[in-house]
Amino acid sequence: MRLKDKVAIITGAGAGIGQATALLFAKEGAKVVVADLDPKAGKEALDQIKKDGGQGVFVQVDVAKGNDVKKMVQETVKHHGKIDILVNNAGIYTKGDVVSTSEEDWDRILDVNLRGVYLCCKYAIPEMINKGGGAIVNIASEAGLVGIKNQVAYNVSKAALIMLTKSMAVDFAPQSIRVNNVCPGTTETPLVRAAIQKEKDPKKARRALEECRPANRLGKPEEIASAILSMASDELGYATGSSLVIDGGYTAQ
Ligand SMILES: NC(=O)c1ccc[n+]([C@@H]2O[C@H](COP(=O)([O-])OP(=O)(O)OC[C@H]3O[C@@H](n4cnc5c(N)ncnc54)[C@H](O)[C@@H]3O)[C@@H](O)[C@H]2O)c1
Repeated sequence: MRLKDKVAIITGAGAGIGQATALLFAKEGAKVVVADLDPKAGKEALDQIKKDGGQGVFVQVDVAKGNDVKKMVQETVKHHGKIDILVNNAGIYTKGDVVSTSEEDWDRILDVNLRGVYLCCKYAIPEMINKGGGAIVNIASEAGLVGIKNQVAYNVSKAALIMLTKSMAVDFAPQSIRVNNVCPGTTETPLVRAAIQKEKDPKKARRALEECRPANRLGKPEEIASAILSMASDELGYATGSSLVIDGGYTAQ
Protein backbone atom coordinates (compact mmCIF):
# COMPACT_ATOMS: atom_id res chain seq x y z
CA MET A 1 0.00 0.00 0.00
CA ARG A 2 2.61 2.52 -1.13
CA LEU A 3 0.01 5.19 -1.94
CA LYS A 4 -2.30 4.73 1.04
CA ASP A 5 -4.67 7.73 1.37
CA LYS A 6 -3.00 9.61 -1.49
CA VAL A 7 -5.23 11.35 -4.04
CA ALA A 8 -4.00 10.85 -7.61
CA ILE A 9 -5.27 12.38 -10.84
CA ILE A 10 -4.32 10.30 -13.89
CA THR A 11 -5.12 11.83 -17.27
CA GLY A 12 -5.84 9.47 -20.16
CA ALA A 13 -6.64 6.77 -17.59
CA GLY A 14 -9.24 5.12 -19.82
CA ALA A 15 -6.79 3.06 -21.88
CA GLY A 16 -3.24 1.78 -22.26
CA ILE A 17 -0.54 3.07 -19.93
CA GLY A 18 -2.92 5.39 -18.06
CA GLN A 19 -5.40 2.59 -17.38
CA ALA A 20 -2.66 0.23 -16.12
CA THR A 21 -1.41 3.05 -13.88
CA ALA A 22 -4.87 3.78 -12.50
CA LEU A 23 -5.42 0.10 -11.63
CA LEU A 24 -1.99 -0.17 -9.98
CA PHE A 25 -2.36 3.08 -8.02
CA ALA A 26 -5.77 1.95 -6.71
CA LYS A 27 -4.28 -1.39 -5.60
CA GLU A 28 -1.59 0.59 -3.78
CA GLY A 29 -4.27 2.45 -1.79
CA ALA A 30 -4.68 5.67 -3.78
CA LYS A 31 -7.99 7.40 -4.40
CA VAL A 32 -7.81 7.68 -8.18
CA VAL A 33 -9.33 10.35 -10.39
CA VAL A 34 -9.76 8.66 -13.76
CA ALA A 35 -9.60 11.67 -16.12
CA ASP A 36 -10.26 10.98 -19.81
CA LEU A 37 -11.80 12.49 -22.91
CA ASP A 38 -13.60 9.21 -23.63
CA PRO A 39 -16.37 8.63 -21.05
CA LYS A 40 -16.92 4.98 -22.04
CA ALA A 41 -13.25 4.06 -21.60
CA GLY A 42 -12.98 6.12 -18.42
CA LYS A 43 -16.05 4.54 -16.82
CA GLU A 44 -14.86 1.03 -17.74
CA ALA A 45 -11.51 1.73 -16.07
CA LEU A 46 -13.33 3.02 -12.97
CA ASP A 47 -15.57 -0.09 -12.88
CA GLN A 48 -12.47 -2.28 -12.95
CA ILE A 49 -10.90 -0.30 -10.09
CA LYS A 50 -14.04 -0.77 -8.00
CA LYS A 51 -14.27 -4.48 -8.90
CA ASP A 52 -10.71 -4.86 -7.59
CA GLY A 53 -11.76 -3.20 -4.31
CA GLY A 54 -10.20 0.21 -5.05
CA GLN A 55 -11.56 3.74 -4.82
CA GLY A 56 -11.98 6.33 -7.56
CA VAL A 57 -14.11 8.74 -9.56
CA PHE A 58 -14.35 9.50 -13.27
CA VAL A 59 -14.02 13.03 -14.65
CA GLN A 60 -14.43 13.78 -18.35
CA VAL A 61 -11.74 16.18 -19.53
CA ASP A 62 -10.03 17.40 -22.65
CA VAL A 63 -6.63 18.30 -21.21
CA ALA A 64 -6.10 20.84 -24.00
CA LYS A 65 -9.02 22.96 -22.70
CA GLY A 66 -8.39 25.23 -19.73
CA ASN A 67 -11.99 25.19 -18.51
CA ASP A 68 -12.14 21.36 -18.55
CA VAL A 69 -8.90 21.16 -16.59
CA LYS A 70 -10.04 23.74 -14.01
CA LYS A 71 -13.22 21.68 -13.52
CA MET A 72 -11.19 18.47 -13.13
CA VAL A 73 -9.08 20.06 -10.40
CA GLN A 74 -12.14 21.55 -8.64
CA GLU A 75 -14.00 18.22 -8.71
CA THR A 76 -10.98 16.40 -7.31
CA VAL A 77 -10.66 18.84 -4.43
CA LYS A 78 -14.44 18.74 -3.85
CA HIS A 79 -14.46 14.90 -3.68
CA HIS A 80 -11.17 14.26 -1.91
CA GLY A 81 -10.01 17.56 -0.37
CA LYS A 82 -6.54 17.55 -1.94
CA ILE A 83 -4.26 16.46 -4.81
CA ASP A 84 -1.11 14.53 -3.88
CA ILE A 85 -0.18 13.10 -7.28
CA LEU A 86 -0.75 14.21 -10.87
CA VAL A 87 0.15 11.83 -13.70
CA ASN A 88 0.07 13.69 -17.02
CA ASN A 89 -0.38 10.72 -19.31
CA ALA A 90 -3.03 11.77 -21.90
CA GLY A 91 -1.31 11.95 -25.25
CA ILE A 92 -1.89 11.49 -28.97
CA TYR A 93 0.29 10.47 -31.89
CA THR A 94 0.55 11.25 -35.57
CA LYS A 95 3.03 10.35 -38.27
CA GLY A 96 4.67 12.73 -40.70
CA ASP A 97 7.64 14.98 -41.43
CA VAL A 98 7.36 18.79 -41.44
CA VAL A 99 6.19 18.84 -45.05
CA SER A 100 3.51 16.17 -44.77
CA THR A 101 2.22 17.12 -41.29
CA SER A 102 -0.89 19.29 -41.62
CA GLU A 103 -1.15 22.51 -39.60
CA GLU A 104 -4.17 21.01 -37.82
CA ASP A 105 -2.25 17.87 -36.78
CA TRP A 106 0.73 19.94 -35.61
CA ASP A 107 -1.51 22.14 -33.45
CA ARG A 108 -3.55 19.29 -31.97
CA ILE A 109 -0.45 17.22 -31.03
CA LEU A 110 1.17 20.23 -29.32
CA ASP A 111 -2.17 21.18 -27.69
CA VAL A 112 -2.72 17.77 -26.09
CA ASN A 113 0.83 16.55 -25.44
CA LEU A 114 2.36 19.84 -24.27
CA ARG A 115 -0.29 22.50 -23.55
CA GLY A 116 -2.37 19.84 -21.78
CA VAL A 117 0.44 19.18 -19.31
CA TYR A 118 1.00 22.92 -18.82
CA LEU A 119 -2.72 23.39 -18.04
CA CYS A 120 -2.99 20.44 -15.64
CA CYS A 121 0.09 21.63 -13.75
CA LYS A 122 -1.03 25.27 -13.81
CA TYR A 123 -4.27 24.42 -12.01
CA ALA A 124 -3.13 21.47 -9.83
CA ILE A 125 0.10 22.96 -8.43
CA PRO A 126 -1.60 25.67 -6.32
CA GLU A 127 -3.71 22.92 -4.66
CA MET A 128 -0.56 20.88 -3.99
CA ILE A 129 1.16 23.92 -2.49
CA ASN A 130 -1.88 24.48 -0.20
CA LYS A 131 -1.37 21.00 1.28
CA GLY A 132 2.41 21.14 1.58
CA GLY A 133 3.61 19.48 -1.63
CA GLY A 134 3.06 16.73 -4.18
CA ALA A 135 4.46 14.63 -6.99
CA ILE A 136 3.93 15.13 -10.73
CA VAL A 137 4.86 12.45 -13.25
CA ASN A 138 4.80 13.43 -16.92
CA ILE A 139 4.70 10.68 -19.52
CA ALA A 140 7.18 11.75 -22.16
CA SER A 141 8.72 9.19 -24.55
CA GLU A 142 11.89 7.77 -26.04
CA ALA A 143 10.81 10.07 -28.90
CA GLY A 144 11.61 13.07 -26.72
CA LEU A 145 15.22 11.89 -26.44
CA VAL A 146 16.07 10.89 -30.01
CA GLY A 147 14.61 12.03 -33.32
CA ILE A 148 12.54 9.06 -34.48
CA LYS A 149 11.91 9.18 -38.22
CA ASN A 150 8.67 10.55 -39.68
CA GLN A 151 6.90 11.64 -36.48
CA VAL A 152 8.22 15.17 -36.05
CA ALA A 153 5.27 16.77 -34.22
CA TYR A 154 5.18 13.95 -31.67
CA ASN A 155 8.97 14.04 -31.16
CA VAL A 156 8.90 17.81 -30.63
CA SER A 157 5.97 17.63 -28.20
CA LYS A 158 7.79 15.08 -26.03
CA ALA A 159 11.19 16.85 -26.16
CA ALA A 160 9.50 20.09 -25.06
CA LEU A 161 7.69 18.19 -22.32
CA ILE A 162 11.04 17.04 -20.92
CA MET A 163 12.12 20.69 -20.63
CA LEU A 164 8.75 21.66 -19.14
CA THR A 165 9.36 18.99 -16.49
CA LYS A 166 12.85 20.29 -15.67
CA SER A 167 11.63 23.89 -15.49
CA MET A 168 8.74 23.04 -13.15
CA ALA A 169 11.03 20.87 -10.99
CA VAL A 170 13.35 23.84 -10.47
CA ASP A 171 10.52 26.34 -9.92
CA PHE A 172 8.57 24.29 -7.37
CA ALA A 173 11.21 22.31 -5.45
CA PRO A 174 11.07 24.90 -2.62
CA GLN A 175 7.35 24.06 -2.19
CA SER A 176 8.14 20.31 -1.96
CA ILE A 177 6.71 19.48 -5.37
CA ARG A 178 8.68 16.88 -7.31
CA VAL A 179 8.28 16.80 -11.11
CA ASN A 180 9.71 13.92 -13.15
CA ASN A 181 9.31 12.17 -16.49
CA VAL A 182 8.83 8.57 -17.36
CA CYS A 183 9.96 7.98 -20.96
CA PRO A 184 8.42 4.78 -22.32
CA GLY A 185 9.61 2.99 -25.40
CA THR A 186 7.04 1.47 -27.77
CA THR A 187 4.45 -0.20 -25.56
CA GLU A 188 1.57 -2.51 -26.48
CA THR A 189 -1.42 -0.13 -26.11
CA PRO A 190 -4.44 0.89 -28.24
CA LEU A 191 -2.38 3.87 -29.52
CA VAL A 192 0.38 1.62 -30.84
CA ARG A 193 -2.00 -1.06 -32.12
CA ALA A 194 -3.87 1.62 -34.12
CA ALA A 195 -0.60 3.00 -35.57
CA ILE A 196 0.50 -0.53 -36.58
CA GLN A 197 -2.87 -1.26 -38.20
CA LYS A 198 -2.52 1.86 -40.39
CA GLU A 199 0.66 0.46 -41.98
CA LYS A 200 0.51 -1.35 -45.36
CA ASP A 201 1.87 -4.54 -43.80
CA PRO A 202 0.96 -4.45 -40.08
CA LYS A 203 2.80 -7.71 -39.24
CA LYS A 204 6.02 -6.42 -40.76
CA ALA A 205 5.58 -3.03 -39.07
CA ARG A 206 5.20 -4.71 -35.69
CA ARG A 207 8.31 -6.86 -36.19
CA ALA A 208 10.28 -3.73 -37.17
CA LEU A 209 9.19 -2.01 -33.94
CA GLU A 210 10.30 -5.04 -31.93
CA GLU A 211 13.58 -5.63 -33.72
CA CYS A 212 14.83 -2.04 -33.49
CA ARG A 213 15.40 -2.42 -29.73
CA PRO A 214 17.81 -4.69 -27.85
CA ALA A 215 14.98 -6.28 -25.82
CA ASN A 216 13.46 -7.40 -29.15
CA ARG A 217 9.90 -6.89 -27.92
CA LEU A 218 7.35 -4.18 -27.15
CA GLY A 219 6.81 -2.99 -23.59
CA LYS A 220 3.76 -3.88 -21.52
CA PRO A 221 1.59 -1.11 -20.02
CA GLU A 222 2.09 -2.68 -16.56
CA GLU A 223 5.88 -2.29 -16.92
CA ILE A 224 5.48 1.44 -17.51
CA ALA A 225 2.91 1.73 -14.70
CA SER A 226 5.47 0.31 -12.22
CA ALA A 227 7.95 3.03 -13.19
CA ILE A 228 5.26 5.70 -12.79
CA LEU A 229 4.42 4.32 -9.34
CA SER A 230 8.08 4.54 -8.26
CA MET A 231 8.35 8.12 -9.49
CA ALA A 232 5.10 9.10 -7.74
CA SER A 233 5.81 7.41 -4.41
CA ASP A 234 8.11 8.49 -1.60
CA GLU A 235 10.63 5.76 -2.48
CA LEU A 236 12.07 8.12 -5.14
CA GLY A 237 11.60 11.16 -2.91
CA TYR A 238 14.95 12.69 -3.87
CA ALA A 239 14.27 12.51 -7.63
CA THR A 240 13.10 15.70 -9.30
CA GLY A 241 13.61 17.06 -12.82
CA SER A 242 14.74 13.61 -13.95
CA SER A 243 13.67 11.08 -16.59
CA LEU A 244 13.24 7.37 -16.06
CA VAL A 245 13.66 5.68 -19.45
CA ILE A 246 11.86 2.34 -19.88
CA ASP A 247 12.46 1.47 -23.52
CA GLY A 248 13.93 -2.02 -23.87
CA GLY A 249 17.32 -0.40 -24.52
CA TYR A 250 16.26 1.62 -27.59
CA THR A 251 17.99 4.88 -26.64
CA ALA A 252 21.04 3.08 -25.20
CA GLN A 253 22.16 2.17 -28.73
N1 LIG B 1 2.31 3.35 -26.20
C1 LIG B 1 3.54 3.75 -26.45
O1 LIG B 1 4.31 3.08 -27.16
C2 LIG B 1 4.08 5.01 -25.86
C3 LIG B 1 5.46 5.23 -25.91
C4 LIG B 1 5.96 6.39 -25.36
C5 LIG B 1 5.11 7.31 -24.78
N2 LIG B 1 3.77 7.06 -24.75
C6 LIG B 1 2.92 8.08 -24.14
O2 LIG B 1 2.18 7.48 -23.09
C7 LIG B 1 0.91 8.13 -22.97
C8 LIG B 1 -0.19 7.09 -23.04
O3 LIG B 1 -0.10 6.42 -24.28
P1 LIG B 1 -0.96 5.12 -24.62
O4 LIG B 1 -0.19 4.39 -25.64
O5 LIG B 1 -1.40 4.44 -23.38
O6 LIG B 1 -2.22 5.83 -25.34
P2 LIG B 1 -3.71 5.29 -25.67
O7 LIG B 1 -4.14 5.99 -26.90
O8 LIG B 1 -3.72 3.82 -25.65
O9 LIG B 1 -4.55 5.87 -24.44
C9 LIG B 1 -4.60 7.26 -24.24
C10 LIG B 1 -5.82 7.67 -23.44
O10 LIG B 1 -5.80 9.11 -23.39
C11 LIG B 1 -7.08 9.61 -23.70
N3 LIG B 1 -6.95 10.94 -24.30
C12 LIG B 1 -6.54 11.25 -25.56
N4 LIG B 1 -6.60 12.58 -25.75
C13 LIG B 1 -7.04 13.12 -24.59
C14 LIG B 1 -7.32 14.46 -24.17
N5 LIG B 1 -7.17 15.48 -25.00
N6 LIG B 1 -7.75 14.66 -22.90
C15 LIG B 1 -7.93 13.61 -22.06
N7 LIG B 1 -7.71 12.32 -22.41
C16 LIG B 1 -7.28 12.08 -23.65
C17 LIG B 1 -7.68 8.59 -24.66
O11 LIG B 1 -9.11 8.67 -24.65
C18 LIG B 1 -7.15 7.28 -24.10
O12 LIG B 1 -8.02 6.74 -23.11
C19 LIG B 1 0.87 9.17 -24.09
O13 LIG B 1 1.27 10.42 -23.59
C20 LIG B 1 1.89 8.65 -25.08
O14 LIG B 1 2.43 9.67 -25.88
C21 LIG B 1 3.24 5.95 -25.28
